Amino acid sequence: MITNDTAFRWPDEGLTRVPYSVYQDADIYAAEQARIYRGPVWNFLCLAYELPNVGDYRVTQVGETPVVVTRDHEGGLNAFVNRCAHRGALLCLDQCGNADAITCVYHAWRYTLKGELASVAFHRGVNRKGGMPDGFDKSNHNLETLRVTEFCGLVFGTFDPATPDIEEYLGPEIATRIKRVLGRPLTLLGENTQTLDNNWKLYFENVKDSYHASLLHLFFTTFRINRLGQKGGVIVDDSGGHHVSYSIMDKALDNSSYTDQNIRSADDGVQLSDPSMLDAVDEFGDGVTLQILTVFPGLVVQQIQNAIAVRQVVPTGVTRTLLNWRYVGFDGDDDAMTERRLKQANLVGPAGYVSLEDGAVGGFVQRGIVGGGDAEGVVEMGGDGYESQDFRATETSVRGMWRRYRDLMGF
Ligand code: FES
Ligand SMILES: [Fe+2]
Repeated sequence: MITNDTAFRWPDEGLTRVPYSVYQDADIYAAEQARIYRGPVWNFLCLAYELPNVGDYRVTQVGETPVVVTRDHEGGLNAFVNRCAHRGALLCLDQCGNADAITCVYHAWRYTLKGELASVAFHRGVNRKGGMPDGFDKSNHNLETLRVTEFCGLVFGTFDPATPDIEEYLGPEIATRIKRVLGRPLTLLGENTQTLDNNWKLYFENVKDSYHASLLHLFFTTFRINRLGQKGGVIVDDSGGHHVSYSIMDKALDNSSYTDQNIRSADDGVQLSDPSMLDAVDEFGDGVTLQILTVFPGLVVQQIQNAIAVRQVVPTGVTRTLLNWRYVGFDGDDDAMTERRLKQANLVGPAGYVSLEDGAVGGFVQRGIVGGGDAEGVVEMGGDGYESQDFRATETSVRGMWRRYRDLMGF
């Protein structure tokens, strides 16, 4: 385990340099589990929509730690580590389900929906032989619980009693923009999971990186969905960890700023034979056609036209990350709107016209930095700070992420 006085030192340039070791070092990865995921952050767990009834449960992860979320008999949400207090077996083996109590398959210890140890099989032994000692107190063997909160249908958990309330954690600008998209009763249209062959931070940076979108993603530029010349900006919260980037589609703007630089992502000669997937409606009434929002350390809320998704970023190893997608609609959507959301959802997900490339590019970085020793990435686009900006040719929110990361990690 690293400590603050080991050889690791952040480069003197500050936020404009990122040492490649932070994506490769097993000691740093282990320290993140303690300092970030068990630290003063709100981790996205699941949607409240997934737990409508008493006894519903859903498994998830906080960092690498397995966690289960339950709906208890009082209607409240609970989260606890999905690990039996006896010998550590995983308790809930299915992704989701419904149960009166949580029973371990190994030796049948049973827990309430709040994670309290309710019974121990053969507690008193058999025929007065065996069993637990007289002093054994069940209440000392409850499951490790997390504090839980709900915001706009998103369920968050934290291990740290010092984590501020969710609205304070998010800050007013981020909270407002989550409400903009998710501030009405939602429904789940579908979900899937993909594995990324890269460190979790490479994906989280990618989502914050408004510079890359129209360059990496041919689809965005070719079909004039998202270009750097469109109106838009980036908002970074005071901590640096959360961000929103937004833009307003401008079909009249041509791609000459790309073609003049010979950038491959702009091909004005290509047409969609069925352009109906880009037929969007302005459901938010503000003209914003793209809003990508992150909540540190693992939540992405996406609005691309009418395609709404909630993404959960889960580290499962130094160079392995799970990306869980949930595609969202809302109560009151008519069939046409549901159809529209589903059609536009082809932009995203593991094989999405746009997101496919985000699933690959983190692996390109991970492979490129092998053998990089003490080398560093350069993050100078748009300045050296992490302030909000009214343009998107910038890496301001990437620098913000490193500000927050370094504060939590003590780097
Ligand atoms: S490990 Fe769960 S009851 Fe023994
Ligand atoms: Fe991207």
